[in-house]
Amino acid sequence: MSETAKLVLGEKTIELPIIKGTEGEHAVDITKLRSQTGYITIDNGYMNTGSCTSDITFLNGEKGILRYRGYKIEDLAEHSNFIETSYLLINGVLPTKRQLDFFNEKIVSFATLPSGITRMLDTFPRDAHPMGVLSAGVAALSAYYPDFLDHDLSDSEKDRAVAQLMAQVKVMMAYFYRRAKSEEPVRSHPSLGYCADFMNMIQYKPGYEVDHEVAKAMNVLLILHADHEQNCSASTVRMVGSSNANVFATISAGIDALWGPLHGGANQAVLEMLETIKKNGGDYKKFIKKAKDKNDSFKLMGFGHRVYKNFDPRANIIKKACDTVLTKLGVQDPLLDIAKGLEEEARSDSYFVERNLYPNVDFYSGIIYRALGIPTNMFTAMFVLGRLPGWLAQWREQVGSPTAKICRPRQIYTGPGVRDYVPVDERK
Ligand code: CMC
Repeated sequence: MSETAKLVLGEKTIELPIIKGTEGEHAVDITKLRSQTGYITIDNGYMNTGSCTSDITFLNGEKGILRYRGYKIEDLAEHSNFIETSYLLINGVLPTKRQLDFFNEKIVSFATLPSGITRMLDTFPRDAHPMGVLSAGVAALSAYYPDFLDHDLSDSEKDRAVAQLMAQVKVMMAYFYRRAKSEEPVRSHPSLGYCADFMNMIQYKPGYEVDHEVAKAMNVLLILHADHEQNCSASTVRMVGSSNANVFATISAGIDALWGPLHGGANQAVLEMLETIKKNGGDYKKFIKKAKDKNDSFKLMGFGHRVYKNFDPRANIIKKACDTVLTKLGVQDPLLDIAKGLEEEARSDSYFVERNLYPNVDFYSGIIYRALGIPTNMFTAMFVLGRLPGWLAQWREQVGSPTAKICRPRQIYTGPGVRDYVPVDERK
């Protein structure tokens, strides 16, 4: 007999099914709790709520484990590249050479934007934040591909949506980057490979050649950002996708959710924080003190995580990559010394130790982006580029599930009881 949990509510005891994951995780299934008892569960900020079952990413925050489709993040960062990892996330298996080539060719075939989209990008102020531009641009793609508005897409149409977004988000970012600098756009050169092509599109000038180390570092960064199970933006993608909204609206919503500084926007916030510390003479101890002060809203950006309570495996890889990349590129960045000092200080401070606050993926990534020549306000857009295959995999899993339901949480109402309407001239 399958395992159940017993819940005692006053005089009544009910049995709730237990669901088990492949890695020994377990959950109490409360789907029928309300119909059986009238009760709902409440969990502010979804601290302990499983919103779905998923085959994509396994994460164990206590042990610092992160795996995509069973493959360790450390192995993928070392041996794979971003396109192969994207294929893995979306299709569930590592591709054969033929499958990989086909996937790549499909992405490459969408490397131009509809002219209406480039005209739209031209209307944004040059100093507009790239995240707002991307969100608008991705939502606007729906105007040019009306066949995607039908929610009942075939598998090959979903494949097309994946390839198209992976290509067009990259081109959109590069296009707007150059426009922001009043430079002519550079067309895509697919033979360079996804990451090197992107770097070439943003940094090309006569004589420029993408450094192998730069392309490699970008591949590692994008792999590490590619998925992270039910985080804020992935959950947003699933939430919006669950209403059968089209894929462009769904991914645009994911971009918006990622923008916030508590989520993907933290990479920009970290760099800005390090710059501020530098301007203040590098006194990071003062900022540690501020972060601990409950009357001060300042937080140590790039520190802490909802699920990692030991270490963030992505941060460990990025920290090592940071040293390697800066050395190989011959870059000396004083912000790296400040970051390391800050980390060392926080790691031996009881406030951070007791609360299990460690550097997360965003703490060191900005220093690498900076070394690669990417401006600070583009960092979160780089996160979008990395997270895109994860969102697309989550979207495919959500809309492809035969048991998919619209996501619709409940609430406990705490407002006023019923009141009589009072006409405006009788109100006091
Ligand atoms: N600096 C100072 N104190 C902190 C920090 C921080 N960065 N993070 C958490 N705390 C404290 C918090 O004040 C609370 O203290 P107390 O128990 O005394 O009230 C305790 O630690 C628990 O924090 P929480 O806010 O309840 O934890 P959470 O799981 O709700 O939030 C977090 C997680 C990531 C939003 C939070 O740690 C944070 O704001 N970090 C800084 C922003 C950041 O780096 N975000 C990137 C996250 S990883 C990338 C991604 O999500 O995409």
